[in-house]
Amino acid sequence: MKVDLGGDLEKIRTEAKKEIESAKSLKELEELRVRYLGKKGEITSVLRGLALLADDVRPVIGNLVNSVRAELESSLNQKVLKIKGSELENSLKSESLDVTLPGKSRKTGTKHPLRTTLDAMKEIFVGMGFSVVSGPEIEWDVYNFDMLNIPKNHLARNESDTFFITDDLILRTQTSSVQARHMQLHKPPIRIISPGKVYRVDEIDSTHSPMFHQVEGLVVDKGVTMGNLKHTLETFFERFYGREIRIRFRPHNFQFTEPSAEVDISCFVCGGEGCRTCKNEGWIEALGCGMVHANVLSMCGIDPVEYSGFAFGFGLERIAMQKFEIDSLRLFFENDVRFLEQF
Ligand code: DAH
Repeated sequence: MKVDLGGDLEKIRTEAKKEIESAKSLKELEELRVRYLGKKGEITSVLRGLALLADDVRPVIGNLVNSVRAELESSLNQKVLKIKGSELENSLKSESLDVTLPGKSRKTGTKHPLRTTLDAMKEIFVGMGFSVVSGPEIEWDVYNFDMLNIPKNHLARNESDTFFITDDLILRTQTSSVQARHMQLHKPPIRIISPGKVYRVDEIDSTHSPMFHQVEGLVVDKGVTMGNLKHTLETFFERFYGREIRIRFRPHNFQFTEPSAEVDISCFVCGGEGCRTCKNEGWIEALGCGMVHANVLSMCGIDPVEYSGFAFGFGLERIAMQKFEIDSLRLFFENDVRFLEQF
């Protein structure tokens, strides 16, 4: 039997090369690979034909088959790379990116100035040994008024001042309610501050809001005096404003303290000489305070003969307005980013 394997091989080689060259997709190339080099492929069947050859030509043709197979494999691989390359190029072209277009900027938030102020206050008081405690905003009138020595007929208990939920449940009007709650549950020594929201029936204007924040302070122990109160507040303000601050007490009346005082601080901008911040007064009104009333201590189960204490109440907005020179309380709650991002 006469076989011309050499001639067959040459034909397969030229045809395969032509088809590989004109293939347009990876799928087509894969089909060609199966057709020529696969198990049932044309090259493989030529290999099978080797058995029919005479011993002396078999190795020659065998080598030839292997070199054709290697050649086709490498042209297939090269073509695969070429097609992959142009697919990448096409996708880069179609998904092109114009780096000169303005980007989408993402705004990060900032800490609200009230939060910044409160964090600074907390840090200073915690540094002086105070703990931070909180209480409910929806409060029994007993804690908000009665236990703070505010009698049933007191003006502050009118519906025109206080938001009532039921006859005896209100939105707390002061964080002083936390004093009563804390003293009822804890024995002296007590050293706490309690920051939080309070509510009063007020129209919004540049100094009023139906919701605002207070920071209440309370210290109860043996032998606590007004001198301790003054030193505590002085130390607080010096750390808060980072300069020497003098304190002035003006007599005042709070039901839950006796004696009671309003505290003025020497101006933290001019030091007392007079400037825009202190309206040329040299002094700035800062907060209310006093020595805890004996009735309050007794009602909370603390013996007023053995123990004494002082309390104070900051308006957080007032302190923040003074520190950051903000002239309207409204700005804190409108959440205008142009305002907030300044802090
Ligand atoms: N609760 C007072 C208010 O809302 C503020 C205050 C004044 C709190 C004197 C105190 C204090 O603890 O001793 O006006």
